[in-house]
Amino acid sequence: MAAHNVFPESRPPNPSARQACTTEVLLTPPKQRIVIVSNRLPIILDRCDGTGWGAKPAAGGLVAALRPILRESGGLWVGWPGAADVDDTDLAEVGEHLAANDNLRMRAVQLSSEEIDGFYQGFSNGIVWPLFHGMPKICSFSPDHWRAYSQVNRKFAEVLAREAAPDDFLWVHDYHLMLLGRELGRLRVPNRRGFFLHIPFPSLDLFLKLPWRQQIMDGLLSFDLIAFQTERDRQNFLQCANTLAERCLVAWDGKQVVRGRFLERAAAADKAGRDIQTETLPISIDYSKVAKDAASDAVQQRARQLRVDLQGRAMVLGVDRLDYTKGILHRLRAFQLALDRHAKLRGQMTLVQHLVPSREKISDYAKLRRNVEQLVSEINGQFTEPGWVPIHYMYHSLSWEDLLAHYRIASIALITPLKDGMNLVAKEYCAAQVDEDGVLILSEFAGAAAELKTGALLVNPHDIASTAESIYQAFIMPKDERLERMRRLRRTIRNHDVFDWAEAFLSAARHKASVALGVQESPRRATITVTG
Ligand code: UDP
Ligand code: G6P
Repeated sequence: MAAHNVFPESRPPNPSARQACTTEVLLTPPKQRIVIVSNRLPIILDRCDGTGWGAKPAAGGLVAALRPILRESGGLWVGWPGAADVDDTDLAEVGEHLAANDNLRMRAVQLSSEEIDGFYQGFSNGIVWPLFHGMPKICSFSPDHWRAYSQVNRKFAEVLAREAAPDDFLWVHDYHLMLLGRELGRLRVPNRRGFFLHIPFPSLDLFLKLPWRQQIMDGLLSFDLIAFQTERDRQNFLQCANTLAERCLVAWDGKQVVRGRFLERAAAADKAGRDIQTETLPISIDYSKVAKDAASDAVQQRARQLRVDLQGRAMVLGVDRLDYTKGILHRLRAFQLALDRHAKLRGQMTLVQHLVPSREKISDYAKLRRNVEQLVSEINGQFTEPGWVPIHYMYHSLSWEDLLAHYRIASIALITPLKDGMNLVAKEYCAAQVDEDGVLILSEFAGAAAELKTGALLVNPHDIASTAESIYQAFIMPKDERLERMRRLRRTIRNHDVFDWAEAFLSAARHKASVALGVQESPRRATITVTG
């Protein structure tokens, strides 16, 4: 396939995009095409009554963050189209016009039903997802799942070996593809490659539980650049790398030498020695677009309707993929306790909880849905009064306008994950507060807490009583304080949007390409030198 330039000389299609992204990074030579590689493509194909394929947008933070990047710069996205045995012809049939809107081209990695079971449901979401989110009890460490994971990572590498031009930069995303660097190496694919982990990286104690910890670590160390959402994730990674290594080396962390015997096996794979750079780069959102769309007529009209439906009551909003990491049961308990302790809240606020269907074939997700629905009905049974139902619960996907309308009118966003890589809903809520009058209650275990702690009310979701008090505090917070906090939150997000994030990643990758082997001195950055 011929290489083409996705960093065009001409203006990018959306002039509202941040200048920094479009001019400084994406238009700076050497011009290099980016190939985004992730398990999921931004659309999901589905058989329509056996007659052909239909397509819908994929949900979740990864797709939401990457879509604006490619919309600005164009490019190729390689991934799985969300159903078994879909190939490029099927994808072109339904996906092309959707992709054209997003200014991207897609290539399918075709997976069989068995591969989806073993690689996606089994290993990625039955082992890595719970383990990396600190829930080892629900991991089922099956060797069959490991085999499927390795096999599918190889398959991704084979597709890239065919599709990538020699100068392309391969930007690999997330926990489904931690072996991809190694597989690309085996196929002698020469392209430079970087990896971004969207989810947390676990502590040493957790990571060591993984029977395939060494292979996963070696796989990660086959990338040139590895970036994490928070500094804690990056430090966890360095500690794991340090512990699993049997030979070598030094990692410089700006101020301290992390010290180590690094990476026997990775070193064996590369006797000459090479640097692997690590970065902390919190992902973000397209702030300008969220703020602009939130102020649009369509959203305002929908918001008016929602206000009428709420009959003037304050909305407390929850929006999550239905996932056990999101702390939904803890949140419902906290809301229940707030109503119990503060009679003043009854009839005055409504929790509107949207749960977006996710990974429905995995039993833990199906069970959680049942438990959530049971608890919602228990709480509604306990507190409902004529004319007021305390929790409005919906299990569905929202349109963009509907989501923004909810953000706009919610007095409080209640975002309480037990653990979360970042949580873009928190950032979107703030960006959509064009009137600057809303309170963000945020779990201290969301990656976003590191940046948003000065404006949000931070809570420990395991502490139900204090989360309940935070709900009450948010409800009675004086307007001046609400405005001041929300201004601070919005400023933080505006100053670090998704284009800044992409720019930081790509410029780190370029920087890496241009330096000689050796340690670099830079805060929040470490270079691991692997030698034989
Ligand atoms: N979202 C979505 N479909 C919906 C509702 C929300 O795709 O019906 C988006 C939402 O706008 C946000 C993303 O899903 O960008 C959720 O990202 P987050 O980081 O909060 O959590 P994740 O689902 O990635 O764990
Ligand atoms: C999280 C993960 C993404 C994933 C998304 C939706 O954001 O980090 O990699 O795409 O959840 O989950 P799904 O299993 O539907 O892709």
